[in-house]
Amino acid sequence: MFSQKIWSLVFNLICSLLLLLPNESLSSPLSSSEPSLHSTSLNKRYNEKIYNIKITKESFAPDGFEREMYLINGQFPGPTIECNKDDVLVINVENCLNEDTTIHCHGIFQRGTPWYDGNPGETQCGIPPNETFTHKFNVNQSGTYWYHSHSRTQYIEGIVGPLIVHDPQDPYIDEYDEEIIILLQDWYHTDSKTLLATFLSPESQGVEPVPDNGLINGKNSFNCSAAPKDSVCKDAPLAGFNFVQGKKYRLRIINTSTFSAFIFSIDEHSLDVIEVEGMITKRHTVHRLPINVAQRYSVIVEANQPKAKYWMRGEMETTCFAQQNPNLNSLVKAVVSYAGCDDKDPSSKAWSDSVKDCVDLDASDLKPYKTQNVPDVDHKIKITISFQNDENNITLGYINNSTYKIDVKYPTLNKVFDGVTTYATDQNAFVIEKCEIIDLILNNTDNGEHPFHLTAQTCQTI
Ligand SMILES: *[C@@H]1O[C@H](CO)[C@@H](O)[C@H](O)[C@H]1NC(C)=O
Ligand SMILES: *[C@@H]1O[C@H](CO)[C@@H](O)[C@H](O)[C@H]1NC(C)=O
Ligand SMILES: *[C@@H]1O[C@H](CO)[C@@H](O)[C@H](O)[C@H]1NC(C)=O
Ligand SMILES: *[C@@H]1O[C@H](CO)[C@@H](O)[C@H](O)[C@H]1NC(C)=O
Ligand SMILES: *[C@@H]1O[C@H](CO)[C@@H](O)[C@H](O)[C@H]1NC(C)=O
Ligand SMILES: *[C@@H]1O[C@H](CO)[C@@H](O)[C@H](O)[C@H]1NC(C)=O
Ligand SMILES: *[C@@H]1O[C@H](CO)[C@@H](O)[C@H](O)[C@H]1NC(C)=O
Ligand SMILES: *[C@@H]1O[C@H](CO)[C@@H](O)[C@H](O)[C@H]1NC(C)=O
Repeated sequence: MFSQKIWSLVFNLICSLLLLLPNESLSSPLSSSEPSLHSTSLNKRYNEKIYNIKITKESFAPDGFEREMYLINGQFPGPTIECNKDDVLVINVENCLNEDTTIHCHGIFQRGTPWYDGNPGETQCGIPPNETFTHKFNVNQSGTYWYHSHSRTQYIEGIVGPLIVHDPQDPYIDEYDEEIIILLQDWYHTDSKTLLATFLSPESQGVEPVPDNGLINGKNSFNCSAAPKDSVCKDAPLAGFNFVQGKKYRLRIINTSTFSAFIFSIDEHSLDVIEVEGMITKRHTVHRLPINVAQRYSVIVEANQPKAKYWMRGEMETTCFAQQNPNLNSLVKAVVSYAGCDDKDPSSKAWSDSVKDCVDLDASDLKPYKTQNVPDVDHKIKITISFQNDENNITLGYINNSTYKIDVKYPTLNKVFDGVTTYATDQNAFVIEKCEIIDLILNNTDNGEHPFHLTAQTCQTI
């Protein structure tokens, strides 16, 4: 069925850049009834981990403020999906909403299985209401990832969860005792359809809505005196983490924010960065770790302080916001409690190391654990990122002066399989040769930071 055809390199970047190249005519697994991806050989070689996730919309109050939001298997954040490197991951997504949805496994390359990348309009059509969609793919990478809805703004209202790929050969495996997952995100009390409509109106002038709160593992408190009169709001607990003195923890920190960057720290404890988005690094010690939207870090923390409680802090970088929310408490806290400590609130001291406003950790401080040679490039693709007003004065994102238009009915990948080689300008598709190595040079001309990411990378013979 897929015979000896060559896959093209398909990658796409969030913010709608798409690079792809269909080269020879490709047989289309999308038109076959069951895109089972050479599963017989996979099943022979690898273990299979199966997850069933059911997406619903319900009333919930992560920070004590009740609102309608999305839950996965009745919980928020969604359940942890985890497997070992080289396992096959099967994720059955049941859509119990009255709108379509998708699930994107953020950072997973999907080599050989781009149709499971969960990008509506690019790699698939949305999963219709009351339907189940099965993702099944080989995970040939390790590290800290997350999964989220890629449909409209659904992820900012709860369709998020951690995805962890363990590597039995991880060089740091003997240097920590336990793993702890930490999700940081901004949180809004207004539904995202309203926020998006406000943002995409001439009145907003491109100024992004600001969050009402921030959450650590889906929790925080909110000062209900700032809640509208007719709302339901009550005290809610902070997230808590338990340490045992003398133990070492690998914290897997995932920024599932929409807008707000955080500076993460634990009072009086150092953080040794050992992984950046799947790449194992040499140890790099910091006290305050800036983490941008969708970024992930693993840090090793040693519980080497007196038995007590300590604040874990996620400081939202509000200086990067174009407007301010007077009710926002930008310091998101959680409590780290040592076993055997007394019940008093933490009285720990925050680290005071200065961190540059609104920029990432200096990448030159992060050295890959294993030296890798940078291959020669075949050519360079330069793109300019800007925000501009369209003819109706609505601020949109542009790549080389072209704003992307989603084609929900005919996803790009289907076009690739149908042998389409030229794309409309508003598809922002850049066609490259099979297995070419390119430098992608992004020139961000906006005054805000814009993280980009690569997905559905495929370059192999199947
Ligand atoms: C989905 O199923 C529910 C419960 O059976 C039903 O009420 C609803 O109308 C269905 N939605 C769609 C779009 O078919
Ligand atoms: C996994 O990835 C490595 C490194 O990219 C590659 O050498 C290997 O062939 C891949 N294995 C499979 C089963 O795809
Ligand atoms: C909540 O906000 C009100 C009004 O700003 C303020 O008076 C009160 O002290 C705040 N409560 C707490 C616990 O911070
Ligand atoms: C998460 O990313 C958002 C968006 O860039 C950023 O504003 C926020 O500070 C980040 N949070 C953390 C903890 O880094
Ligand atoms: C984007 O625009 C720049 C400047 O005009 C140009 O040099 C570059 O080749 C364009 N990129 C692509 C991929 O077309
Ligand atoms: C867009 O905004 C500018 C400046 O505010 C105004 O002069 C212009 O009339 C607006 N155009 C439209 C189409 O609304
Ligand atoms: C975008 O359009 C403007 C105005 O026409 C032009 O000056 C600029 O060079 C273009 N940028 C790119 C990257 O093509
Ligand atoms: C990025 O774009 C700006 C505005 O078009 C231009 O002035 C600058 O030279 C570009 N930078 C690079 C490195 O190409």
